[in-house]
Amino acid sequence: MSASEDNDPLMVIPRHVAIIMDGNGRWAKQRGLPRLAGHSAGTDNLRKIIEECVRLGIKYLTIYAFSTENWRRPPEEVSGLMALLENMIERELRSLHDNGVQIRHLGRCDGVNERLVRRIRHAVESTRDNNRLVLNVAFNYGGRDEMVRAVQRIMCAELEPKEITEQVISEHLYTSGQPDPDLIIRTSGEYRISNFLVWQGAYSEWYFTPALWPDFDEDKLREALVFFSKRERRFGLVSEQVE
Ligand code: FPP
Repeated sequence: MSASEDNDPLMVIPRHVAIIMDGNGRWAKQRGLPRLAGHSAGTDNLRKIIEECVRLGIKYLTIYAFSTENWRRPPEEVSGLMALLENMIERELRSLHDNGVQIRHLGRCDGVNERLVRRIRHAVESTRDNNRLVLNVAFNYGGRDEMVRAVQRIMCAELEPKEITEQVISEHLYTSGQPDPDLIIRTSGEYRISNFLVWQGAYSEWYFTPALWPDFDEDKLREALVFFSKRERRFGLVSEQVE
């Protein structure tokens, strides 16, 4: 973590921010629009927030784009979300690349149409050497599913039980090699983890805001960072030890 020089000198910039972008459906409903219009507005907002994170010097941003449970939504919403992701990659990849963003995919490819899988792989491959911001896109992702996958991979490595440590488990998650999130933001006034970064979020600070995702702008991100700056992170210790 660092205090960014270009920003408020008292603001601590977390190294890793994760976001549950919730409330697109309600945003659309409030305007008498179809749910997909909310997801589309959410996608536009995402672009702005990524840019702001780059500007602020955040090094890792993880976004929850589509969960393993979201397949159960109405088929037209599922296909609409797939199309939005595909369009977003097509439209934004060049500018993300030029801004030094490295795209990583957290989640499975099973069940995702082949053309979209190719686009995701291309986005990941073509930005792999960028290092200004790592953008983890949790897509077809579930925290429990990630842990099941990690256990399966550990079993394949034929480790002895005593060799299985927290570090070994972390190394078999999609986020292997990355720091755990310092701050997890959830929009739309819901207070749930929803199967997001179940392992990695063990010591994260959580910030809940009633703002619906399409309304969560740069100022609201700043409010979340101000909140984070005031937190004392103890990681199980007492205040005196942290000081
Ligand atoms: C939750 O809002 C949001 C999602 C399930 C999708 C989030 C996706 C984006 C912001 C767009 C970027 C990602 C892709 C895949 C292009 P909700 O629909 O549950 O809202 P509600 O709770 O108000 O109904």
